[in-house]
Amino acid sequence: MKIGIFDSGLGGLVITRAFIRQLPEYDYIYYGDTKNLPYGDKTSGQILAYTLDAVKYLISQKCALIIIACNTATSITLRYLQQRFIPQYAPDVKVLGVVIPTVEEATLFNAQKIGVIATMATVRSQIYTTELHKLNPKLEVQELAAPELVPALEDNNFTKAQNLASEYVKQFKEIDSLILGCTHYPLLKTYFRQILPPSVRVISQDEFMGEKLQDYLTRHVEIDITLSRNAQYQFEVSELNEHYRQVAESLFPGINITKKE
Ligand code: DGL
Repeated sequence: MKIGIFDSGLGGLVITRAFIRQLPEYDYIYYGDTKNLPYGDKTSGQILAYTLDAVKYLISQKCALIIIACNTATSITLRYLQQRFIPQYAPDVKVLGVVIPTVEEATLFNAQKIGVIATMATVRSQIYTTELHKLNPKLEVQELAAPELVPALEDNNFTKAQNLASEYVKQFKEIDSLILGCTHYPLLKTYFRQILPPSVRVISQDEFMGEKLQDYLTRHVEIDITLSRNAQYQFEVSELNEHYRQVAESLFPGINITKKE
C-alpha cells in the first residue's frame, strides 16, 4: 500500500519533497488536479466534489494513507472525509490534512498574535482561527486572503508575487508569527522572512511536514506496517501541458510527471 498525496495542482510537490526527503523508503503517489486549479476561488460544493473524486482515485491506486496537501481542500473537506465518507467508503484508509500539524507548529513557541495568509476559501472557512483557538483560546488570529498570489506563482512570475506579498503583509497588525497557509507560499518563504521584522516567525509547511508524517507513522504502527517500501514515486495530474511540465520540474527537479488516464 502506498502513501497518496493530493493537491489542487502542483504546489503540493513542495510538501511531497519534504515527505520524500524525510521518509525516502516509502512508495508515494501524487495526484494534482491541475484541470480544476485553483480551488481557492471555488465554492465549497465544487471543492468537495473535486476532492472526493481525487480521494476515490487515490484509494483505487492502493493508498492506505492519503494526505490532503492542499490547505483549501483540507479546510473545506477534511472533516467530512474523516467523519462521513471514509468510514463508509474505505474504513481501512486514513486521510490527513495540513492544518492541524501547522497550528501545532505555530503554537510551539508562545505565539500570541498569529497572522495567516491563505486562499479565499481557506480564509472563508475560518479553519485556522478555529483550530488555533482550540489550542489556545487567547491567541489573536488575523486571517488574510491573498487571491492573487497563487496565479502569480503558477505563472512563475516571482517579481509580481513578491510585490503582492509586500502589499499583503502590510495588512497584518503587529503579528509575532505568520502561517503560510497555502501549498504555494513556501516558494516565497525567504522573501516573507526578508520583508518581515526578524522577530516574526514565518511558519512554512515544507519545513516540518516531513517530521510530522514520520511522527504520525511512529504513533500509528497499524498503518505503517501496511505501507510498502520500494522507494517508488509516481506523479500524476489531471491536465498536463508544457507549462505544467516546467513548473513541476522547477518544484521537483528530475520529476517524471504524467497525465492521469
Ligand atoms: N493548493 C491550494 C492551497 O494550498 C492553493 C492553490 C489553489 O487555490 O488551488 O490552498
